[in-house]
Amino acid sequence: MDMLLFQLEKTGEKPLYDQLYSGIKEAIITKKITVGEKLPSKRKLADFLNISQTTIEIAYAQLLAEGYIISKSRVGYFVEDIDELPYIQQDTSMLLKEQPRKKTYAIDFNPGSIDIDAFPFQTWRKYAKELFDDASKELLLTGEPQGELALRTEIANYLYQSRGVVCSPEQIVIGSGTEQLLPMILRLFSEDTCFALENPGYPTVHRMFLQHKRQVCPIAVDDEGILIHELEKTTANVVYITPSHQFPTGAVLSATRRAQALNWAAQSPSRYIIEDDYDSEFRYTGKPIPALQALDRNEKVIYMSTFTKSLMPSLRVAYFVLPPKLLTTYNDVFNYYSSTVPRFDQHIVANFMRDGHFSKHLNRMRKVYRKKHEKLTTILENYSTQIKITGEQAGMHILLNVQHELSEQQLQHSANDAGIGIYPLSAYRLDENTTTQAQFLLGFGGIPVHKIESSIEKLMNCWAIQTKQPSSSRFK
Ligand SMILES: Cc1ncc(COP(=O)(O)O)c(C=O)c1O
Repeated sequence: MDMLLFQLEKTGEKPLYDQLYSGIKEAIITKKITVGEKLPSKRKLADFLNISQTTIEIAYAQLLAEGYIISKSRVGYFVEDIDELPYIQQDTSMLLKEQPRKKTYAIDFNPGSIDIDAFPFQTWRKYAKELFDDASKELLLTGEPQGELALRTEIANYLYQSRGVVCSPEQIVIGSGTEQLLPMILRLFSEDTCFALENPGYPTVHRMFLQHKRQVCPIAVDDEGILIHELEKTTANVVYITPSHQFPTGAVLSATRRAQALNWAAQSPSRYIIEDDYDSEFRYTGKPIPALQALDRNEKVIYMSTFTKSLMPSLRVAYFVLPPKLLTTYNDVFNYYSSTVPRFDQHIVANFMRDGHFSKHLNRMRKVYRKKHEKLTTILENYSTQIKITGEQAGMHILLNVQHELSEQQLQHSANDAGIGIYPLSAYRLDENTTTQAQFLLGFGGIPVHKIESSIEKLMNCWAIQTKQPSSSRFK
């Protein structure tokens, strides 16, 4: 064949081997070089194009690896039949369409945000560095399906000390987030099981149950948490609840309701409670309340929690604790699958916990969030003629009840137009919104403490809400 004539840009951004590889590939696809033709030898082509033989070698190796050419020992390289590669010529513009971008705001009261200024990077890096080493090469292999024993042991100790949860590491399953673990829990129950969910509630959970075509039953929530007498009227056998800090209203499940919930579960062997303890680490009033699982004497609670709030949402590590009776079902269904969390990440977290850094980090973060919480609630007190706050005992968001002539939707739009992200409670309702009061989730985790005052002032300004006059009566 004739020498391959290519315009190589020697000073261009694309490396020479890549230009050569693309040029030959294009010539093969468009049949300018036909099947069976011999390519010039590396030495001849290097001389002809005035480039190094190594450049030719890399380009040929890539074409060889992708099946465009074959190598015949001591004879040379030949163009391969590419009938099986028609997709290469497909129009890829469809694939390159832009994904819808998440809206960003100058001030964002997103309840999912955490403080990112106090993370102990140095310590985290030390554990990561230690692990990415020959001494830990065994971690390159697949680990245990339920998650690494080292991390499950640390989690069991932590849960006992901080939440009163009694469990062994064998009962713990680690996975990449609550949203990945819940579908596993679902599969422990027969397909006709009806699941009761708090309303309003965590939309991810609602969506997930519907996507798995499971029957769901929304149960109303008041300022003491889920209404157990409403749950009793349904055919549900499993209920998903957030007792420590109801998402999104922030209500803490009262002692009476806790007892009622456990009694409800104890009435039938097929009844269970899924307790999502997602942000229990942060409590601002009164004594810490133990987990519901800690009060359960009948092994009816599937406890679950996450490192999303306590460490970082991007880690994607959460876990659940199965009552012994469900462990057998779990083993039958799931022990064939690998854990969804990388082993290195699991060991970083385990070592971080083992050496006391997790407790230290939580103590530090409690102070950070308490400070933000105090500042936020104090500032909002100035607007108490039109603003009332609830759900402020724990977590990283509060509920803002706004008395205003504008609707919730109008208030949201005016805030968004002013560059403020604010999250209406109606978005978390599982059925038609029946309330008239405008209510918003106000996440404070991601707002730096020194910006809280100005952020609230901006929000109140755009809603034209004035600070209260000393003589004004409180809104009830
Ligand atoms: C109610 C509730 N559960 C769990 C989570 C955490 O989910 P994940 O572990 O998938 O990050 C959140 C996060 O905001 C939440 O609001």
